[in-house]
Amino acid sequence: MKLSATLGALALPIIAIAGTPNESFDSREATIDGVHNAIFSGLTSCRDVVSSFISRIEAFNPTINAIITLNPNALTIADDMDAKFASGNVTGSLFCIPVLLKDNYDTEDMNTTAGCLDLAGNSPLIDALTVTAFKKAGAIILGKTNLHELALEGLSVSSLGGQTVNPYDHTRTPGGSSGGTGAAIAASFAVFGTGTDTVNSLRSPASANSLFSFRPTRGLISRAGVVPISYTQDAVGALARNVKDLAVALTVMSSVGYDPNDNATSLIPSSSVGVDYSEDVYGGTLKGLRFGLVEGFFNRTESNETTPVTTSMAEIVLLLRSAGATVVSINETVYNATAIGLLDVQTSEFREQMDKYLKMSSDGGTRPSTLNELYGSSKFLVIPSQYSFVNTALKSSTGYSTYPALRLGIQNLTTTLGTTFSANKFDAIIYPEQKNLVVKIGSPSQSGRNGILAALTGSPVLTVPIGFSPPTGDAPIGIPIGMEILGLPWSEGKLLNIASHIAGLKHVRRMPSFANGTVEVMAYASVPTILPNPRNIPSVYPIGTL
Ligand SMILES: *[C@@H]1O[C@H](CO)[C@@H](O)[C@H](O)[C@H]1NC(C)=O
Ligand SMILES: *[C@@H]1O[C@H](CO)[C@@H](O)[C@H](O)[C@H]1NC(C)=O
Ligand SMILES: *[C@@H]1O[C@H](CO)[C@@H](O)[C@H](O)[C@H]1NC(C)=O
Ligand SMILES: *[C@@H]1O[C@H](CO)[C@@H](O)[C@H](O)[C@H]1NC(C)=O
Ligand SMILES: *[C@@H]1O[C@H](CO)[C@@H](O)[C@H](O)[C@H]1NC(C)=O
Ligand SMILES: *[C@@H]1O[C@H](CO)[C@@H](O)[C@H](O)[C@H]1NC(C)=O
Ligand SMILES: *[C@@H]1O[C@H](CO)[C@@H](O)[C@H](O)[C@H]1NC(C)=O
Ligand SMILES: *[C@@H]1O[C@H](CO)[C@@H](O)[C@H](O)[C@H]1NC(C)=O
Ligand SMILES: *[C@@H]1O[C@H](CO)[C@@H](O)[C@H](O)[C@H]1NC(C)=O
Ligand SMILES: *[C@@H]1O[C@H](CO)[C@@H](O)[C@H](O)[C@H]1NC(C)=O
Repeated sequence: MKLSATLGALALPIIAIAGTPNESFDSREATIDGVHNAIFSGLTSCRDVVSSFISRIEAFNPTINAIITLNPNALTIADDMDAKFASGNVTGSLFCIPVLLKDNYDTEDMNTTAGCLDLAGNSPLIDALTVTAFKKAGAIILGKTNLHELALEGLSVSSLGGQTVNPYDHTRTPGGSSGGTGAAIAASFAVFGTGTDTVNSLRSPASANSLFSFRPTRGLISRAGVVPISYTQDAVGALARNVKDLAVALTVMSSVGYDPNDNATSLIPSSSVGVDYSEDVYGGTLKGLRFGLVEGFFNRTESNETTPVTTSMAEIVLLLRSAGATVVSINETVYNATAIGLLDVQTSEFREQMDKYLKMSSDGGTRPSTLNELYGSSKFLVIPSQYSFVNTALKSSTGYSTYPALRLGIQNLTTTLGTTFSANKFDAIIYPEQKNLVVKIGSPSQSGRNGILAALTGSPVLTVPIGFSPPTGDAPIGIPIGMEILGLPWSEGKLLNIASHIAGLKHVRRMPSFANGTVEVMAYASVPTILPNPRNIPSVYPIGTL
């Protein structure tokens, strides 16, 4: 039964058409298996599945502003899927699975804006290979999500998309930079979504939206066709509501394999080629595993912003121990996220990477051809705490003498991390993604995050939800808190197994209460137009200032 019909102003009138949606599909917290069971049992159609997600987007996106654009072809593709199912031709692990892409993944059927007004007309001629892999696996690209402009910070505000709002506390940011995907997946706007991560950007929104995410080992998944920042630090990945769906997303994205357009993929060992990671979700045990707890990645000052994080981590450590795992504190002072951050190479690599991207996926000249041109346009948003970063990046190059020293420092850090693992026989190390709760809208930066260690060393990380802060007036069920599980290179399978056991020990994830009701599924004649920044949420940051 449908309870409410809270529809956005852009809803089209209900028109009876062929293939009118069923009454049956409930997209809240929907899983890949759930969608498949509903379709394959004949309970629902692919068109109904897609319509039900679009109906949720129309109802709830005006509150959280997570979507930049919907795919105008989504329903036509769904009809093709229904025709395939009718003729017994069902192929692909993602058959009819609605997926949202962070709007820095190139798509041939939707513009790729990275949230920047000056890239509104960027229409790549071909999909990123990861997007091709999704389509080949049967996924329906439902639309593109907002992000922190050009993925450069963690507040998820952009000149084109406005401010995305945390679904659990509308006064807070959704983390970032993949905050549009985080908020959208938390509110069940699709089954899962993609993000990118240069320092924290997949893990911060996973943490802030009670989701699971993976950041793969450097080189496992091609980054070509994704708006870049840093050759050394960029990674692509996914955010999902459960470990199994995350494993399927990883399987599909990593199926791209070696890609001459991203030479880091030449590092993939044969043991990581063509792996079906969904197998890793089953079997195994936490008993006998050894975890390092990174003491330097906490803020032990008592406050309502930090104590809930420390408390949730302590609870997880107790659970791991009760399941037979060993948790040992890592006390080495090198594990200090602020100090490690001094090795960050984004400023050296950003301009060269962007210039290469703007040149390579050329689309006929309706967008800037260099990064300097983009920032000369006055159609961009940079938050004040990043003025110096961007101004430096515009002048910097990997040819500068400071760069090799940073690379050496990163190599040294990577060796140190390897030694910490081997000396303690660790299976993984754990720490909170963020020392404090995700920050309020309007804050100067997304402070307290610990993502830099994996970003520099190229280590794989899974993020898992571990708790909520105490409920408040603004946060009826509390603010989500997430933990990172970092492993040695190419240990994605092991990390998925660990995450799966942790999720089994304690079911943490909950729907945001503002969007936990059902909505009436509309019978759409065509995909409605979703405008970014629907409430025109005023940005506290000026446009075009640097
Ligand atoms: C639901 O959709 C399926 C597949 O399109 C169709 O066979 C079935 O009759 C529909 N059921 C209802 C109640 O509309
Ligand atoms: C089944 O679908 C696949 C993938 O879309 C397509 O390549 C193939 O030609 C189809 N086979 C038949 C028999 O229709
Ligand atoms: C997408 O890009 C094309 C080509 O530059 C442009 O004509 C069109 O207006 C853009 N679409 C949107 C929605 O901005
Ligand atoms: C890939 O190319 C970059 C230069 O663009 C170079 O620095 C790096 O060493 C190469 N990596 C591999 C794995 O070949
Ligand atoms: C630790 O948390 C406190 C309380 O929220 C905050 O005032 C302080 O700035 C934080 N310390 C660091 C180093 O971030
Ligand atoms: C923490 O306390 C500050 C000031 O006392 C308040 O503004 C804020 O909303 C509180 N946060 C939570 C999560 O209770
Ligand atoms: C870190 O310190 C704690 C408490 O002092 C100790 O129990 C633990 O063994 C130390 N960790 C390592 C890896 O030596
Ligand atoms: C971490 O590193 C920063 C920057 O080097 C330093 O200011 C801070 O004191 C260090 N924190 C601890 C706990 O050592
Ligand atoms: C390498 O790392 C170790 C341990 O973190 C540190 O003591 C040393 O100074 C570093 N060496 C260089 C050359 O950066
Ligand atoms: C929705 O949220 C409200 C408020 O937190 C809660 O009372 C209710 O039980 C939730 N409903 C569902 C289905 O989770």
